[in-house]
Amino acid sequence: MSVIDGKVALVTGAGRGVGRATALELARAGARVALLARSLGELEESYESLRACGGAAFVVQADLGDLDGIPEIARRVNSALGSVDILINNAATTEPVGASVSLDPPAWAAALRINVVAAATLAFSLLPAMLERQWGRVVNVSSGIVEAPGMMIRANAYLTSKAALEAHTLNLAAELADSPVTVNVFRPGSVDTAMFDFLCDSPAMVGSPELREWALRARAEGELTTPDEAARSLLAHLRTDASGQIWDVSDVL
Ligand SMILES: NC(=O)c1ccc[n+]([C@@H]2O[C@H](COP(=O)([O-])OP(=O)(O)OC[C@H]3O[C@@H](n4cnc5c(N)ncnc54)[C@H](OP(=O)(O)O)[C@@H]3O)[C@@H](O)[C@H]2O)c1
Repeated sequence: MSVIDGKVALVTGAGRGVGRATALELARAGARVALLARSLGELEESYESLRACGGAAFVVQADLGDLDGIPEIARRVNSALGSVDILINNAATTEPVGASVSLDPPAWAAALRINVVAAATLAFSLLPAMLERQWGRVVNVSSGIVEAPGMMIRANAYLTSKAALEAHTLNLAAELADSPVTVNVFRPGSVDTAMFDFLCDSPAMVGSPELREWALRARAEGELTTPDEAARSLLAHLRTDASGQIWDVSDVL
């Protein structure tokens, strides 16, 4: 039996893309899954897919930019499915994109609030119960672009947020090294999703012509990772007891 069987998972950004595929994979492995995003229609489609494969699911429509709402998210999931064992912080925004000097500073800060602060706040609110129950998994979905911070010019908020998310993750893992809770980063590769489509034509790619050329060619030639492939890789890692690692979709387990 899988370690995931019977566990309760919360997946943010579960309305489409990597988040939806990960939620489905968790349900197939026997988890009860809370699906969080803002778009109710997309969440309902994810919910129907999970139900169709026999999974138990619960929809939480919420904006992670509203940090004050996070305790309520934890309370609602807890009363619908039980205490969260697995937190997948997958939701992210790539906006704002554009020349940094012309960005609206509050919009830049809002991206960090969604991509970093909300992920950390969710973990902080769910960790006490994981520690008490002697089992837990936190996975923060990042990006390989952290290795090349000079690329994706004009996506400064996104780059900054992913680098900060990885630092937060590895530091928290070190703090919890003697505990039964594991904390890891997952980099899904270049995935065929709405986010990838958005970035292809955004100023972030236009400002990085070589990266844009590569992205358009990879998409046209079908070389992108699929959301299902990313989800299967994440789940393979999740079944291990590893902590404090940066998992990549290209890892072979
Ligand atoms: N696609 C790639 O090539 C790629 C590469 C590297 C890393 N990643 C990472 O992989 C993860 C998933 O990306 P994806 O490509 O699957 O993106 P996506 O298709 O754009 O999906 C993003 C999900 O996050 C949700 N979300 C965004 N802002 C939110 C907010 N404020 N509150 C709650 N939910 C919010 C979206 O739903 P709503 O808009 O309805 O809220 C959606 O369900 C992200 O962390 C991304 O940075 C992706």
